[in-house]
Amino acid sequence: MTKFIIGNWKMYGNVTSAHMLIEAVAAAANARVEVVVCPPATLLTQVTGWLAGSKVQVGGQDCHAAAGGAHTGDISAAMLKECGAAYVIVGHSERRAAHGETNAEVRKKAEQAMAAGLAPIICIGETAAQRKAGQAKAVVARQVRESLPEKVAAGRFLLAYEPVWAIGSGKTPTVSDIAGIHAHIISAAARETGLAPERIFVVYGGSVNAANAGRILATRGVAGVLVGAASLKAEEFVSILRAAQTAAQDPRRK
Ligand code: 13P
Repeated sequence: MTKFIIGNWKMYGNVTSAHMLIEAVAAAANARVEVVVCPPATLLTQVTGWLAGSKVQVGGQDCHAAAGGAHTGDISAAMLKECGAAYVIVGHSERRAAHGETNAEVRKKAEQAMAAGLAPIICIGETAAQRKAGQAKAVVARQVRESLPEKVAAGRFLLAYEPVWAIGSGKTPTVSDIAGIHAHIISAAARETGLAPERIFVVYGGSVNAANAGRILATRGVAGVLVGAASLKAEEFVSILRAAQTAAQDPRRK
């Protein structure tokens, strides 16, 4: 199965740094892996222009829950699509925390994304306190139930499991933890959507780097990785990409 390697640049990057990064990523990409970069909205048009003819796709970092309207400072899914995006991240924990986004709002954003022809990358994940209280599985199952649009087709969306405590902390769950929770997410999403479990793709995010990417990508139920800080360093992101390409080449691995 093709792995997804997705870079979330967050609120970092300018025209000069983005151009250097894009050149390196585009040169390393091939058809074996689906590479997606999600730059800040202000760089989207330039980035899609630089990537014309390459294998790398572009995504937004958020879209509004409405198709349009008087929403100063916001961006609609259709606007992202017009800039050349194919994906959009919705419900990232940083937005859930800083902008008070609820599961219901995330669901509306994902619906708008799909209506505009974008594949939403729907983020879920428990906090450190929830994990400590033994609630990780219950929390993600509820997020799946409440954040996934009612009608979704296979291949039109991704789920991203990003434990909040792993983001930017240098800490990651063990691979057996990741395998367990991904299996739980896949079965919850299959129940919710009526899709076969093998049509549900869940990427992992949270402190992914060049040193741990190979191990995480080889874990059962991991369809790819959503990378923050390491996606801003060309060498590091390219080596994560290479790990996925190598795994895709190995006939013993799926
Ligand atoms: P880090 O890779 O910096 O931990 O960030 C993960 C993330 O939030 C990706 O969306």
